[in-house]
Amino acid sequence: MNLLSNETLTTIHARHSIRQFAPEGLSEEMVMTLLDAANQAPSAHNRQSWKFVILEGDVRGDLAELVSGASKQFQKPASTLLRMAGRSIASAPVTIAVVNTGDLISHGTELFQVDKDQAFDFFRTMEIQSSAAAVENLLLAATSLGLGAVWLGILYLIKEQILDFLQEPQGEFMAVIPVGHPARPTQGPNKKPVQNVVKRL
Ligand SMILES: Cc1cc2nc3c(=O)[nH]c(=O)nc-3n(C[C@H](O)[C@H](O)[C@H](O)COP(=O)(O)O)c2cc1C
Repeated sequence: MNLLSNETLTTIHARHSIRQFAPEGLSEEMVMTLLDAANQAPSAHNRQSWKFVILEGDVRGDLAELVSGASKQFQKPASTLLRMAGRSIASAPVTIAVVNTGDLISHGTELFQVDKDQAFDFFRTMEIQSSAAAVENLLLAATSLGLGAVWLGILYLIKEQILDFLQEPQGEFMAVIPVGHPARPTQGPNKKPVQNVVKRL
């Protein structure tokens, strides 16, 4: 059996970051399909401690301006990456922001008997890992639907401004993901051979 003919594995291999988008929009059904895929991710204690904020139209343009403007506060290469991020957001018809709700952090000590000193780090890490799984689901769903997307982690540098913009000041910044039809066909970078990152005990 050729495992790479498997549809899911083909999508995993086809996914790569798309940073420039065609003007064509996304239907509401497509956007909700992507978010539903994200929402199916595993999460620590099934707390689903994520929130997805949809940014379209003028709001998305406002975010792009905020990001480009903020790039001036930083030296290279952060300033360049922020400017590029602003351009990606401006060119994508839809941007999805992912925020961690803190639900696991709030309820974790009732759910698990862990040392108080360890609790915050533990639950925060579990929330980040859960949301990372949701983001990857979204990226894979986008690829599978012929769309492109990129995970913009650089916005962490201006996370307070982003959370205020999202009207989620209590949340934890996780990711901002412009999504749309790719401007042109591209190829992702090569990955290290899997043998190089595996060891067997
Ligand atoms: C946590 C995380 C943060 C990232 N932040 C950025 C970013 O700020 N800007 C950007 O252009 N790409 C960003 N990326 C995308 C990576 O650059 C990209 O995944 C990597 O170069 C591998 O390329 P590929 O996604 O095409 O396989 C990020 C990816 C991850 C997982």
